[in-house]
Amino acid sequence: MIRSTVLAVALLCGANTASAVDDYTVELYEIYCTACHGVGLSGAPLAFSDEWQDRLDKGMDVLISHTINGIGNMPAMGTCGECNEDDLRDLIQYMAKEQ
Ligand code: HEC
Repeated sequence: MIRSTVLAVALLCGANTASAVDDYTVELYEIYCTACHGVGLSGAPLAFSDEWQDRLDKGMDVLISHTINGIGNMPAMGTCGECNEDDLRDLIQYMAKEQ
């Protein structure tokens, strides 16, 4: 009972926060993207830093297609075989936001 009340409050708060990121996106990031983007491995733009600005200038559609097909040292899908385009869009927006 207490647990579900806490959950409900957390959900309500989340809905009111414009920058809220859903747990699923964070989970995918931690499973698939952080290995490289969490540390800037092999030239990967560092998550939550301003290194994403140049990338974002290419446009979201280009970034998604580069992620799907792979680019430079990044393998296709950024290794996330279960991700769909919407997931990738959420992940890119999540990583590209400075925190
Ligand atoms: C094996 C390491 C690795 C993993 C895992 C990885 N990336 Fe990358 N990523 C890179 C590298 C390296 C680059 C830079 C490629 C370049 O510009 O040459 C990159 C670049 C990108 C870019 C910019 C593409 C562009 O056109 O500039 C996006 C978007 C991206 N990654 C998304 C993701 C997402 C989403 C995930 C998780 C699903 C992910 N990456 C997982 C290594 C990785």
